[in-house]
Amino acid sequence: MVAQRLDGKACALEVENGLHARIEQCKLRGVMPHLAVVIVGDDPASHVYVGSKVRACERLGIQSTHIELPSNASEDEVRSAIESLNSQEGLHGILVQSPLPPHMDEESLTDLIHPSKDVDGFHPQNLGRLVQGRMDGMLPCTPSGVMRMLEWAGVETSGKTAVILGRSRIVGMPQALLLGVKGVDATVTVAHSRTRNTTELCASADIVIAAVGRPEMVREDWIKPGAVVVDVGINRVDDSSRERGWRLAGDVHPDVANVASWLSPVPGGVGPMTIAMLMENTVRATELSISDTLDS
Ligand code: GUN
Repeated sequence: MVAQRLDGKACALEVENGLHARIEQCKLRGVMPHLAVVIVGDDPASHVYVGSKVRACERLGIQSTHIELPSNASEDEVRSAIESLNSQEGLHGILVQSPLPPHMDEESLTDLIHPSKDVDGFHPQNLGRLVQGRMDGMLPCTPSGVMRMLEWAGVETSGKTAVILGRSRIVGMPQALLLGVKGVDATVTVAHSRTRNTTELCASADIVIAAVGRPEMVREDWIKPGAVVVDVGINRVDDSSRERGWRLAGDVHPDVANVASWLSPVPGGVGPMTIAMLMENTVRATELSISDTLDS
């Protein structure tokens, strides 16, 4: 078997195409969707991601504000940047790029973002709604992008077993909730660094989502023939055969394509979907702010 490509780039283009008319509607009401992206420090990968987010805004006609703070900025400076963005009228989405420098408490800072502007879906109010099985809050972008890709490919989830590798706040935990919710109906196992039988769990799963940040950890013999495999990992690995000396690798070894029915590539898989879902959340936050204004 050669796996079909879970083509995040193509799926993201469909999501973006669906946003054009909604953005036009906002503009007809005199409101331009507006996203603020805050980045602290000089982590090269984070700067690449933020650049992609800002370019997606340009592509779609969404206004973006890019705030850069140095790695020695204080937590108070980040706090006051967030507070000022919270109170800025005509600004609909705020994203603080993760990871923040180690001297900062990332959770307490992202908790400050007003839930209606929390386009990352990390605020306890938005995550809490998801725990309740309510899909009407802001949903975290990477896991909701994975769900959209599975739908795009027509992958059946009901009654299937799904193993998620990794229990992060950004991907693993919300992914488990989205796969297990009523209507999606997968039976979900979250495996992590202390799980004893990870390979056996994977080998019996219909769907495997890898989000651990370990290059090519998931091997061909971990995967049941015909399983669907989604690779959330983006790792830089040394490669002297490349001019730049490195290449990108996912958490899944490319040989998994020999056994899986669907496999998402890296790059071109989950990455573009995360950005597309961020754009969708920003448009949604804008639409909700317009209907709040009409209601009041
Ligand atoms: N870092 C890696 N993924 C993400 C994401 O989805 N949102 C934010 N804010 N930071 C990230």
